[in-house]
Amino acid sequence: MTPEEEEAIRREFEASRKQAHKTQPNHGISQFELNDYSRIKHVLGVVSGKGGVGKSLVTGIIAIELQRAGYKVGILDGDITGPSIPKMFGLSDVRARGMNDLIMPAETSTGIKMMSTNLVLENETDPVVWRGPVLGNALQQFYEQTMWGDLDYLLVDMPPGTGDVALTVFQSLPIEGVVIVSTPQDLVQMVVGKAVNMAAMMNIPVVGLVENMAYFKCPSCGERHQLFGPSRAGETCLLYGIDMLGQLPIDPKIAEACDRGDIEQSLPEGMLPDAVAIIVDHDAE
Ligand SMILES: Nc1ncnc2c1ncn2[C@@H]1O[C@H](COP(=O)(O)OP(=O)(O)OP(=O)(O)O)[C@@H](O)[C@H]1O
Ligand SMILES: [Mg+2]
Repeated sequence: MTPEEEEAIRREFEASRKQAHKTQPNHGISQFELNDYSRIKHVLGVVSGKGGVGKSLVTGIIAIELQRAGYKVGILDGDITGPSIPKMFGLSDVRARGMNDLIMPAETSTGIKMMSTNLVLENETDPVVWRGPVLGNALQQFYEQTMWGDLDYLLVDMPPGTGDVALTVFQSLPIEGVVIVSTPQDLVQMVVGKAVNMAAMMNIPVVGLVENMAYFKCPSCGERHQLFGPSRAGETCLLYGIDMLGQLPIDPKIAEACDRGDIEQSLPEGMLPDAVAIIVDHDAE
């Protein structure tokens, strides 16, 4: 990145930060409220500047690591039309149960609570062809009508982009911070800047950046290959003044575990060692 490019990004970022102070994104929009059976200490969003970079995977990994660290965790699959969280945890055949007008969330084998469109569809392969207002209603029900119980963390896997559902999540849920997920290519393409700016416009702090697919570790020689060129994550974090939460390698075993639905069992310890510490620290502030 040339100093001129860097300066241009900095200026754009500062402009949107100033704009953020002027806008009141929640004005006139109602906040969703929890039912009597739910107490959630912290709600965090997982976002990216574009789709397919591994948001759902990172949501899953952070949930698993927080849970392994002893916290009570839930995942709200905010990707209403493209839900992928239940499958990753082997819950494809599970359906959420209704109790009066409330919903019992599904629970993974280690006790992570989960709510997702896939848990209420008749068949997992049914397409979700709902319009904007219905999508917002689904999200509202997942938050307000789900019996979440006591949670330390509710992670919201955000839908890709900046559409209706993403805006509703930002405006109606008490999101304390967002984790941004990117791949090395995005850093070059300034996609991270888009996510940082969106958070700034919604007045939501950024917890930090996870760089996914940062390198490939050769199974025979153990050497790390940076397939997309050298990582720019550190430099990008400095540029936007955000924390680096960690890097994940491209690992076919992870993709296979997601497909098999046993990520919770097969995820190696400490994939994102700093993420838990920084998230916990961030919320203690
Ligand atoms: N580090 C990785 N190593 C191997 N496979 C990965 C890695 N990260 C993601 N994948 C695979 O890439 C695919 C896309 O990942 P994921 O669903 O998490 O992306 P996403 O950002 O949530 O996508 P969308 O925007 O569609 O919701 C999945 O099949 C996932 O298993
Ligand atoms: Mg996803």
